[in-house]
Amino acid sequence: MSVEERTQAPAPVRADAPVRAGAEAPPVRADARASVRVRVPAKVNAQLAVGAARADGFHDLANVFLAVGLYDEITVTPADELRVTCEGPDAAQVPLDTTNLAARAALALGERHGIDPRVHIHIAKDIPVAGGMAGGSADGAGALLACDTLWSLGSSRDELLAICAELGSDVPFSLIGGAALGTGRGERLTPLAVGGGFHWVFAVADGGLSTPTVFREFDRLTAHTSVPAPEADPVLLEALRTGDAVSLAGALANDLQPAALALRPSLAGTLAAGTAAGALAGLVSGSGPTTAFLAKDAEAAARIADTLLTSGTCRTARVAEAPAPGATVVEQTAS
Ligand code: C5P
Repeated sequence: MSVEERTQAPAPVRADAPVRAGAEAPPVRADARASVRVRVPAKVNAQLAVGAARADGFHDLANVFLAVGLYDEITVTPADELRVTCEGPDAAQVPLDTTNLAARAALALGERHGIDPRVHIHIAKDIPVAGGMAGGSADGAGALLACDTLWSLGSSRDELLAICAELGSDVPFSLIGGAALGTGRGERLTPLAVGGGFHWVFAVADGGLSTPTVFREFDRLTAHTSVPAPEADPVLLEALRTGDAVSLAGALANDLQPAALALRPSLAGTLAAGTAAGALAGLVSGSGPTTAFLAKDAEAAARIADTLLTSGTCRTARVAEAPAPGATVVEQTAS
């Protein structure tokens, strides 16, 4: 039997609408589910303010996350052993061992609850790999919610967020989605109000960029300057609150952009092509190399994507709206 959404009791389960991560509901019997499928969004950073390197090697951030409607889907099913498979155009670049954040999420949750994580995790990947859009983090958050549901643990949102923060700086945001300010290394989240939908175009580059390498380049470029403490821009927060795309475009900022451009100079051509095609503004998404363009409306976004596709400055171009919901159970199959 196929059912939508998380945690209804008793089994067999029935639900009417998607339930967000951490929703409170009584668990169903552990044997009630044969598989759980979770959908998780990509993110773009409307602002990424980066402070100086800390003693632990991380950087304090003021990170304005927006979840965007490009999704990976994670399906977990009981298996003889922990195993990860992946499908999608970039699947060959996805590690299938325990360096994959989805596998690490299953291991971390299993360890916490004394469960041997014998699950098959299948990732249907649509988020660009190593593109600065938190695709790996999405898979970690998705696998965590999927296993929590499969094993009927009913963990609270705070319990799941704590495991997410151990997995990586961007993983907590992948769980909650929407819009949020991330401080600390990006894992301490304050949800933000958003007054409307924003239309984005993403130009996907050939090959990825390693996040640690981009942060190291940031350190090199800023070595002889005094790096101010990162702070969220009030103008940008107000633009989000009022849903004003033109004001948001004027405030978009990414302190990692000079480092990403130094490592991948061709991105300057992509940024120029998107702006010439009519984008309100463009910037490197997170640590790159995906570039993100804000459009005035859906029609403008489609036109910009078409122009970018034929510009020769990117591998492909995608349109997506923000904000998008966080990790969501979209299907459960009961045995
Ligand atoms: O937290 P996560 O594993 O995603 O971080 C990957 C790498 O990115 C870190 O090892 C670090 O080099 C860099 N990073 C950083 N400061 C942050 C987040 C990430 O320097 N706030």
